[in-house]
Amino acid sequence: MAQIDPEKAKLVAQSIIADVGTFVHGGLCYIGDRLGLFKAMAGAGPLSAEQLATKTGLSERYVREWLGAMATAQYVQYNPHDNTYLLTPEYACALADEDSPFFIGGYFQMAQAAVTVAPKVAEAFKTGRGVPQQEYPASFFEAAERNSRTRYLHKLLRKWIPAMPQVVERLKAGGTAADVGCGGGRAAIMIAQAFPKAQVFGYDVHAESVNRARHNAQAEGVADRVTFEVLDGAQLPAGKFDFVSTFDVVHDAVDPIGLMTAIRRSLKDGGTYLVQEVNVSDKVEENMKPLGKMVYSVSTLYCMTTSLAHGGAGIGTAMGEAKARELAAAAGFKHFTRLPIKDDFAVLYELRP
Ligand SMILES: C[S@@+](CC[C@H](N)C(=O)[O-])C[C@H]1O[C@@H](n2cnc3c(N)ncnc32)[C@H](O)[C@@H]1O
Repeated sequence: MAQIDPEKAKLVAQSIIADVGTFVHGGLCYIGDRLGLFKAMAGAGPLSAEQLATKTGLSERYVREWLGAMATAQYVQYNPHDNTYLLTPEYACALADEDSPFFIGGYFQMAQAAVTVAPKVAEAFKTGRGVPQQEYPASFFEAAERNSRTRYLHKLLRKWIPAMPQVVERLKAGGTAADVGCGGGRAAIMIAQAFPKAQVFGYDVHAESVNRARHNAQAEGVADRVTFEVLDGAQLPAGKFDFVSTFDVVHDAVDPIGLMTAIRRSLKDGGTYLVQEVNVSDKVEENMKPLGKMVYSVSTLYCMTTSLAHGGAGIGTAMGEAKARELAAAAGFKHFTRLPIKDDFAVLYELRP
């Protein structure tokens, strides 16, 4: 065995225990999200375990243990003098307020769902094949929708689409838009709400997501103006759209070049394709940050793996701009512009034939 430095080994062990703590604490955050504990604490001021248990109708013993985990993780502030726990406004907007621009509470639901598939992904490591979407629990896709809804709510209509004036002009005048890989349909629904004259379509290969999108459109009162269909984007009709978008789709696609080629062909003259991807590099050394750790893990547990399940490209979430440019050129797009939008999570490319 190689010589080890016992002091360094001790620090390594401590940091791994901290990571294991973070991992299992994530399970308790999933429970807090699912059972409405964070929402019950938001804006409520300091609460005892009894008060929180009464407010949520849950077992006091479980709630007290959960609060211990939240306090030691510093998600809530504990006051030992009166045995109360406080969810500060900053944690409340991150974990409880689904309309806040800072909301990220849905990521625990997504992580929990992804980890349930880990044994199947482990098998795929041996074969090089993948795990198809149908093997993932519905809650994975519901969580993805919760997470992206917040992004769209604060950015899609306020920053992303306004950065392309020709798109605004066409949609205002009654143009046609398609969101490909629409998931639960939130982007298509918001586009339909913002541009009442536009005809909006949402397409996805995942039937469960398309059903949820239809339900969401009904609930939002735009079911007559946005049409959701189960369709592979590679089969889009030609020459139909003024605007096509893909949000977090290209890196997941089985055949990204085939998909982007079909999108180019589906555009009318002067049409625009907006690609949103995750704002990370394709170089490991440039992703040494918390988002990098999450991205490679989610990519392995879902994005790359669902693409490989169908013999696909398996690009992975850390796609980077160089790869996006390469795919766009291979798909026949002559104009590629990275939109000048500063965003920790998202990167946006405007493509035109
Ligand atoms: C990470 S999810 C993003 C969903 C949605 N755009 C959002 O931001 O919430 C990627 C979606 O793309 C869909 N997808 C992947 N390849 C596709 C293709 N070729 N045609 C249509 N949908 C596709 C998947 O089924 C999945 O719903």
